[in-house]
Amino acid sequence: MTIISNKINAMKILVTGGAGYIGSHSCIELAASNHQVVILDNLCNASPFSVARAEKLAETRFRLLQVDLRDAQAVHQVFERERFDAVVHFAALKAVGESVEQPLDYFDNNVGGSIHLLQAMRAHGCKRLVFSSSATVYGNPDSVPVNEDAPLRVTNPYGRTKLMMEDMIRDTCAADPEFSAILLRYFNPVGAHPSGEIGEDPRGIPNNLMPYICQVAVGRRECLSVFGGDWPTVDGTGVRDYIHVVDLARAHAHAINTLEHAHHAATTLNLGTGQGVSVLQLVRAFEQASGRKVPYEIVARRAGDVAEVYADPQRARDVIGWQATRGVDAMCADAWRWQSQNPDGYISA
Ligand code: NAD
Ligand code: UFG
Repeated sequence: MTIISNKINAMKILVTGGAGYIGSHSCIELAASNHQVVILDNLCNASPFSVARAEKLAETRFRLLQVDLRDAQAVHQVFERERFDAVVHFAALKAVGESVEQPLDYFDNNVGGSIHLLQAMRAHGCKRLVFSSSATVYGNPDSVPVNEDAPLRVTNPYGRTKLMMEDMIRDTCAADPEFSAILLRYFNPVGAHPSGEIGEDPRGIPNNLMPYICQVAVGRRECLSVFGGDWPTVDGTGVRDYIHVVDLARAHAHAINTLEHAHHAATTLNLGTGQGVSVLQLVRAFEQASGRKVPYEIVARRAGDVAEVYADPQRARDVIGWQATRGVDAMCADAWRWQSQNPDGYISA
């Protein structure tokens, strides 16, 4: 019998939300670790083009199951038809403002969908999970850098769904000592695959800073509104921990590979660089990387914003052997490559 040695440890992984921004980049990194990837996504916030392009970049096939996690029966059927060694769970709605206006949709989709997923995993003996959580669970932290033991205090319905999902996973691990999970709290994911083939493609007006900057630079929007110039920070604008999406994607492969060999009863890990960057610092880095001007005006603070949040990422280094390697210049250069090659996002694919 011939065994291809680098395939020996391959796992079959179900990636929910794998057609989305972070999911599509992560499928490539999971494939690079020799895992077999099957995507479950209802495409409510993604294009099938992202999957086709990610497959091309990874030089492998990712089967896309167009399934909605809110459909419990369909989710069970997915696990009935084939056996998965692990799940990476990205699928969720993520717009803070929309969650304030439509809270029940967020609880239904994010919490309800996760219940169906966990039930199906339990029923079919799939006991390894990597989960997408968010630094939003820290709310307005008492001090920075923020480590995983900081108090959890969510301030909006989206954040509450993330905390509820974390709690559900912690309780699932407590009820079943064999269930193993790593909960990843992302700080501010930005950037794109260095090929410029896949990236963030928000629908409507972007809520987040980097996609807004990109759309101003490419001429889709006139001017960036900087929310507040009087924060107690280095230059008066908000400070965040921006992390390159490829670094973030790599962390999922590290987490999966860790779960293959070690048991984790709901270990939470921050994913950030540990560096705070202000809005104006990011604007300047983007102008440098793109060669384009990004006109901006300072306007009133945005409700619910905080001055300064950045991670203490040490635990991720200790537990899964991961650290960010890409700086703000690469984040901006790669975001711009994606935006300039795809000015209207995947629509022009
Ligand atoms: P995204 O919207 O690009 O990806 C989410 C994917 O999930 C989409 O492809 C969407 O179609 C799918 N989906 C949503 N509900 C579904 C359902 N009921 N059934 C099946 N598929 C469904 O978002 P993203 O930025 O890639 O975020 C991925 C995860 O990371 C989310 O859980 C998000 O909350 C979390 N997160 C994101 C950020 C960020 O700034 N992007 C920060 C912290 C945490
Ligand atoms: N900002 C602007 N103008 C904009 C958009 C943002 O000045 O048009 C500023 C904000 O005030 C903030 C910084 O840019 O100071 C970053 O804002 P983002 O909206 O990009 O990111 P947030 O840190 O507010 O929130 C994001 C996600 C949350 C998630 C959090 C931590 O939207 O869901 O990161 O992961 F919880």
